[in-house]
Amino acid sequence: MKMSIVFSSLTGNTKKVAYRILEVMPEGTDIYDLKDLNHEIDDELLVLGYWVDRAKPNKEMHEFMERLEGKKVITFGTLGAYPDSPHAMETIKNTNNILNDKNEVLGNFLCQGRINPQITEMFIKSGGPTGVHMMTKERIKKHKDAASHPDEKDFKNAQEFVKNIIKDYM
Ligand SMILES: Cc1cc2nc3c(=O)[nH]c(=O)nc-3n(C[C@H](O)[C@H](O)[C@H](O)COP(=O)(O)O)c2cc1C
Repeated sequence: MKMSIVFSSLTGNTKKVAYRILEVMPEGTDIYDLKDLNHEIDDELLVLGYWVDRAKPNKEMHEFMERLEGKKVITFGTLGAYPDSPHAMETIKNTNNILNDKNEVLGNFLCQGRINPQITEMFIKSGGPTGVHMMTKERIKKHKDAASHPDEKDFKNAQEFVKNIIKDYM
């Protein structure tokens, strides 16, 4: 089965994961940066990468997902939050809600991704003592922890995750 990877990435985290996943894909798999994609993709199986914005795929990938029909889809995403957090679970639920009606979702992978330090700075400045993004000790730790991701372990986990699924479609 012909497969493609399509990713959307603002600061490069998701792009890095995308290219490491490509290493385990069958020969001839295409990879597209969504911002440069200007044609339909006929392939039956798509591996879609996004960065997380408010517990959803980023806007551009969200819109791309909404247009898909009849695809088998594996999703992967990078986020500031921990991949085993309720926020991550919510993200997967929201992602599958976008895709599920018209497509078959085969699996979802998430790992942490370095948060743009300007965003952290903005939260520190604007969060305030009661703001929604108030930088509690936990939040500061989460931002610090995210700073070293995606790391080699994340890449290997992403590769294993995708490899395990696509073996049934090769
Ligand atoms: C505008 C903005 C909103 C974000 N919103 C969230 C969010 O709701 N939840 C989260 O866990 N991370 C959030 N993040 C962190 C990014 O999802 C994370 O750093 C991701 O790895 C960025 O991927 P990229 O380098 O491929 O753009 C946000 C980052 C930005 C810039």
